[in-house]
Amino acid sequence: MTNIAHQLDFIRSQFPSLARIINGMPAVYLDGPAGTQVPQRVVDCIANCMLHHNANRSGRFATSREVDEQMSHSHRVFADFLGAASPDSIAFGPNMTSLTLQFSRALAREWKPGDRILVSSLDHDANFTPWMLAARDAGVELKAIGVRSSDATLDMDSLNELLTERTRLVAVTAASNAVGSLTPIREIANRVHAVGAELFVDAVHLAPHRSIDVTALDCDYLVCSAYKFFGPHIGVLYGRTERMQELAAYKLRPAPDSLPGKWMTGTQNHACIAGATAAVDYIASLSPIADNGSNRRLRILDAMKSISEYETQLVEQLIRGLAGIPGIRTFGITDRHRMSERAPTVSFQVDGRKSVEVAQHLGDNGVFAWHGNYYALPLTLALGTEPDGMVRLGCMHYNTPEEIDRTLDLIKTYVSVA
Ligand SMILES: Cc1ncc(COP(=O)(O)O)c(C=O)c1O
Repeated sequence: MTNIAHQLDFIRSQFPSLARIINGMPAVYLDGPAGTQVPQRVVDCIANCMLHHNANRSGRFATSREVDEQMSHSHRVFADFLGAASPDSIAFGPNMTSLTLQFSRALAREWKPGDRILVSSLDHDANFTPWMLAARDAGVELKAIGVRSSDATLDMDSLNELLTERTRLVAVTAASNAVGSLTPIREIANRVHAVGAELFVDAVHLAPHRSIDVTALDCDYLVCSAYKFFGPHIGVLYGRTERMQELAAYKLRPAPDSLPGKWMTGTQNHACIAGATAAVDYIASLSPIADNGSNRRLRILDAMKSISEYETQLVEQLIRGLAGIPGIRTFGITDRHRMSERAPTVSFQVDGRKSVEVAQHLGDNGVFAWHGNYYALPLTLALGTEPDGMVRLGCMHYNTPEEIDRTLDLIKTYVSVA
């Protein structure tokens, strides 16, 4: 039994929303890739900040000092979460999309005609359009790395073909939010750096499922979003310290020129940044390793290992079950020997049914599942799933094998009467 399975009742008891009843049946939350559920401690933390530590920063009074302390703490905690050496290399913002749009402007200032930018067809549009717009404004070329439609993975040959000495930046996801495929970020980083380019990684979909180590991955920039890992709507940007220092930020004149404030425009959502920090503490708390005050990173790594082991069992169960239902076409990696190459996010279509109808049927029966293209349009075009899209079931560590069985049974009966 994995460490997560062992403490599942306790884990679930921390998420009040999981007790919800829909039409007489307990709700099944398989909508996590669009935003996970939130444990009580995160909500308590946000409420406590708003009720008792609510002030703007850098004042000579108690509440302002407390917010300053909390923010310094949050930078440290997220450096631990992402494996970054310096808390100053972490910037917070409203969400991944806004951070990426803003940051793309700063990088694009360095681009010159003749340069090339690479995005990928596996990505959410939030790691595609910001670079497309920045490339257009800077007058540089933008190309998209292809996907292998057979297993919906990044086409590494396509990357090799497109990567030249003229390439300045490669923006790629670490995990597809639509079909769960992981990408070999370290290998990509090696290839990208070999031609003198930089690597910007979208880790939004990876963050709830695997530990992240920006140092080992050797990426230059990485973004994630706390509402995808049990926190509130807060975006997080990591950047290599030297680059974050030398790049010019689009910011107001009185805002600091120093890190990390230079990249954090406007007044921050301090309470929710504290809540995002509490979400990381929640993850660390899933490790049985005792908190000694200085081993947060170790506990995060241990907890994420348990999460990924447990979720791999769930996704195997889900994929096996879907394979046994006639008329289902599952996208992405389905080979059980390749589960380590995917996140527990599974998309499928039902023969002769629109994905919205399948999602409606599941929703009416208390199973929360998304339908559509998940803003991963180049991928769904490559897979030929437009305009109906796919049904997406996203497992999280708070889901149970019984919930997966119940979902599979619902799909089975639906298909049999379809
Ligand atoms: C893989 C991926 N990247 C980026 C985003 C955008 O994140 P945000 O909502 O924080 O802007 C999402 C949101 O669904 C996503 O799934």
